[in-house]
Amino acid sequence: VVRPTLSDTVLKMPRGAQVIYPKDLGAILIEADIAPGMRVLEAGVGSGALSMALLRAGADVVGYELREDFAERAASNVEAMGVGYSRYRVEIRDVYEGIGEVGLDRILLDLPEPWRVLPHATKALRPGGILCAYLPSINQTSQLRSSMEQHGFGMASSLEVLHRTWHIEDRSVRPDHRMVGHTGFLTTARLLLPFDDPRVLDDPRGQSDSSQSDGPQSDNSQSDNSQSDNSQSDGPQDQSDGPQDGSAEP
Ligand SMILES: C[S@@+](CC[C@H](N)C(=O)[O-])C[C@H]1O[C@@H](n2cnc3c(N)ncnc32)[C@H](O)[C@@H]1O
Repeated sequence: VVRPTLSDTVLKMPRGAQVIYPKDLGAILIEADIAPGMRVLEAGVGSGALSMALLRAGADVVGYELREDFAERAASNVEAMGVGYSRYRVEIRDVYEGIGEVGLDRILLDLPEPWRVLPHATKALRPGGILCAYLPSINQTSQLRSSMEQHGFGMASSLEVLHRTWHIEDRSVRPDHRMVGHTGFLTTARLLLPFDDPRVLDDPRGQSDSSQSDGPQSDNSQSDNSQSDNSQSDGPQDQSDGPQDGSAEP
């Protein structure tokens, strides 16, 4: 007997909403460049599959979810995983109406109209931060990409992950007959603002250590840096409360 992997858990755990498949969870972690200590907003959280992947990667996650029953399900799934529950908070709220956080490193969206979040995301995300949206159709993806251009997001990219397993037995070596043909499209973009934008000048990440900011830099390095902590670095952090805080493999 071996412990279930995160992939096993996501596919078997109790669900309210449809979960993001493991193949896409892996891609999201890389495309959104998730690292320990990052401050991430996730909306909506659904069953918590993406939350679990983010927490296992060491991020601090605030989730917004419309439905109370889904929020409770996500929180209980995260708690059962045994990793990162102390770095997880879910609020019952509509992300289309606004974002309460500022200085976020990443915003991850799995909901039908992510373009409605962009006006709020430009205020909540730090300059250079990454927004990542998961969408089932290319029409939605196209609408999001157009809207991103109008809201100061650049370096955009969209992809889908095709995952084909192989049958390997003696001399029979071939692709499996069946595969999951389509799940969703993944779009990422970065918040790019002019150097004289007040949000760039106010970005606390530009103050403490310019080498740690991946956004446009300001020269206000002497300013008060009241938010100085792990959350301001996008590089690998002290991982003491990171992915290892769960359990060891047998
Ligand atoms: C497909 S599910 C998310 C699944 C989740 N990513 C996972 O891996 O388990 C979409 C969720 O978004 C929520 N949602 C839809 N619109 C929302 C909004 N405006 N604000 C917050 N949550 C929203 C829905 O209630 C639903 O739970």
